[in-house]
Amino acid sequence: MNLSSLKSRKQSSTESGAFAVPLLDLTRQYAALREEMLAAIERVCASQHFILGADVEALEKELAEFTGVMSAVGCASGSDALWLALTAVGIGPGDEVITTALSFFASASAIVRTGARPVFVDVDSQSLNIDAVQVEKALRTRGLGQVRALLPVHLYGQCADMDSFQQLADEFKLSIVEDAAQAIGARWGRRNAGSMGAAAAFSFYPSKNLSAYGEAGMVTTNSPEYAEHMRRLRNHGSPRRYYHDEIGWNTRMDAIQAAVLRVKLPHVTEWNNRRRQHAAMYDRLFVDVGLASNSENSAVRLPFISAHAHHVFHQYVIRAQRRDELRRFLAGRNIGTEVYYPLPLHLQSCFSHLGYQEGDLPESEKASREVLALPMFPELTEEEQHWVVQGIAEFYG
Ligand SMILES: Cc1ncc(COP(=O)(O)O)c(C=O)c1O
Repeated sequence: MNLSSLKSRKQSSTESGAFAVPLLDLTRQYAALREEMLAAIERVCASQHFILGADVEALEKELAEFTGVMSAVGCASGSDALWLALTAVGIGPGDEVITTALSFFASASAIVRTGARPVFVDVDSQSLNIDAVQVEKALRTRGLGQVRALLPVHLYGQCADMDSFQQLADEFKLSIVEDAAQAIGARWGRRNAGSMGAAAAFSFYPSKNLSAYGEAGMVTTNSPEYAEHMRRLRNHGSPRRYYHDEIGWNTRMDAIQAAVLRVKLPHVTEWNNRRRQHAAMYDRLFVDVGLASNSENSAVRLPFISAHAHHVFHQYVIRAQRRDELRRFLAGRNIGTEVYYPLPLHLQSCFSHLGYQEGDLPESEKASREVLALPMFPELTEEEQHWVVQGIAEFYG
């Protein structure tokens, strides 16, 4: 179907509202899995065992295998998974942890929750992941100080440059905690997201590539000691009931969420492949309308994929001139978009005491003015993708 025939079909269709394109539509996935899902939930209800237990243990084993690590520890959210991971590797009051300025808030707040302090570093202008060159520069110019760990985030489903971070971690004796919340199934070279650090955090928030029917998260690690420690920490630091060796928290995993995730996990690779196909389709469609470019000044810049990365497109994020105007224009056509993230972490008011100023991390700041996530989910149709790109082409036309 060419774009002009699509356009005339769409114009009549939008009058009936039938061709809205949502940013994410989970109802399509539910329709395909409904029977199996209800049976899994019913199984938990029949057992009346709602916290930890058999489904959580089974999911931990299955996810450890999927990720290629020794252990996985289920918990209540990705934010808690980050806190567990940081605490297990020994991060606490007085320590500093280097992380990116362009991520969801939890990447930084989990550091603060351990008592440590985040050190924000700028992103690579292309991948928008934390820039290993800048991290190295920070370590060499400001000195190691109290820095004890690196927390790279695999943003939008593409791994950060883990080879460079590993070298830096070895040289400066730092732990790596991966924020793999957006990157289940992603790889850097041959290594899986979630298997490259001392520990890694996954989120199963409903919008993620592997998503629960509520809140859930998991930590992966190859260290039996860390895994054991995190199992205690998620249960109020308690090795046995009502005896507490340290202060933990309640971040146990809900059995219904584990049962839901066990139904979905076998589909993740196929879903990720479909996301990758949709990304390639968007790229082609942007070429067709003359909007594919990687030059600084072009109206639209397409996502950059590193040669080492197996990108799982949690999000397909373009960089757009007049981004907010474009977003309003697309909203007027019922096309969903989102901005991840409109204000970099170093400029959040809760971190003002850290002393960062506007201009300190220019690439993150520029990205936050330009990034725009387009509709992306496995069940997205080619027709919907045409419609999204047609809308963008008309805005710039
Ligand atoms: C990069 C990143 N880190 C951490 C989190 C926190 O996960 P959760 O929302 O499950 O607490 C999220 C998800 O929202 C995320 O995208």
